[in-house]
Amino acid sequence: MHLRGLLLLAALGISSSIASVLNDTKFIFAFGDSYTSEGWGGTGDPLLSQNPTSCSSAGPNWARQFNTLTNNTRLVNLAVSGATSNKDIVFASPPDFRSQVTSFINFVAPFPDKVAWTKDNAIFTVSFGTNDVNNSYKNTVGNGTSLYSQDLDSYFATVDKLYTAGARRFLFNNVVPFDRAQIGISQGTTLQAKLKGSILDFNAQLATKAETYCASKAGITCAVFDTHALFTNIMDDFRNFGFATPDGVCSAYASRGGCTVLPADSSCLGPVSVYVWKDGLHPAWAADTLWAKGVIAQISAIN
Ligand SMILES: *[C@@H]1O[C@H](CO)[C@@H](O)[C@H](O)[C@H]1NC(C)=O
Ligand SMILES: *[C@@H]1O[C@H](CO)[C@@H](O)[C@H](O)[C@H]1NC(C)=O
Ligand SMILES: *[C@@H]1O[C@H](CO)[C@@H](O)[C@H](O)[C@H]1NC(C)=O
Ligand SMILES: *[C@@H]1O[C@H](CO)[C@@H](O)[C@H](O)[C@H]1NC(C)=O
Repeated sequence: MHLRGLLLLAALGISSSIASVLNDTKFIFAFGDSYTSEGWGGTGDPLLSQNPTSCSSAGPNWARQFNTLTNNTRLVNLAVSGATSNKDIVFASPPDFRSQVTSFINFVAPFPDKVAWTKDNAIFTVSFGTNDVNNSYKNTVGNGTSLYSQDLDSYFATVDKLYTAGARRFLFNNVVPFDRAQIGISQGTTLQAKLKGSILDFNAQLATKAETYCASKAGITCAVFDTHALFTNIMDDFRNFGFATPDGVCSAYASRGGCTVLPADSSCLGPVSVYVWKDGLHPAWAADTLWAKGVIAQISAIN
């Protein structure tokens, strides 16, 4: 499979050519939830809160590692832990994607002297769905098709606000198979299966709506990164990726929230880097390294 090939290349750290998209990139604007957040709370000027303080990965998360791998870029991280695409459709109290984009438009976009981004030097990453599915799947009909359709229509309406503000380069991450993490396993087989079907439904609709949206817009570059396939491969083949367990967690790490790599704790199977999951729901930093490299490989393949 083509995708699998890309992921293997990424895992090996081989990058045949850095296409002009990455070469041109000076800014990464990240929107999302706890997988991406580095601690901004979602209110006020996000540019004043860009010190990574709070991460769910027990080390640098995928967005920070993506930024590091692109060398001279600046990450402006607007992701907020716990966020959904649209809290009127799937409730979560933290500022949602719509609110994060409003903050971008109010505080970041109109000030070229603060952030000198242009349509050609900025990548916008959008990573929602985990909380949307987690907070809703127990109460949906079937796999939640109707709810996730509304939620993703709002998602692309919000993306369009970024487009209107001048954004042209987008990376959309889909939802990891967290039904196979402890939060899913602990639900029992019936709810775990419903969670799985709901994640697959969300991801399938994300793929088709991204294609439709991007095809309708002039001068846009879009990529959907298949984090679901990446984490499926990692968990299926965890030893070959350097992990000691596909879904195990260690409480000494699970309880911690910083953005620097935690020291090894002797009560665990090894350092944090041998765990795919930092806790029952959140990937740990070593899995995020594969995520960041996968994103680099996929963007590098865009001409
Ligand atoms: C990357 O940028 C450098 C300097 O601006 C340029 O010389 C090089 O050709 C670019 N590479 C690609 C693949 O676009
Ligand atoms: C970043 O720098 C490294 C080392 O110089 C280089 O191999 C890599 O291709 C660069 N990445 C990008 C995206 O330019
Ligand atoms: C997942 O959703 C449930 C509500 O069904 C909520 O109680 C729980 O806190 C959520 N888990 C996380 C990690 O957000
Ligand atoms: C829900 O998803 C599962 C897994 O993809 C699938 O087997 C099932 O048919 C779906 N159910 C409905 C009602 O669409």
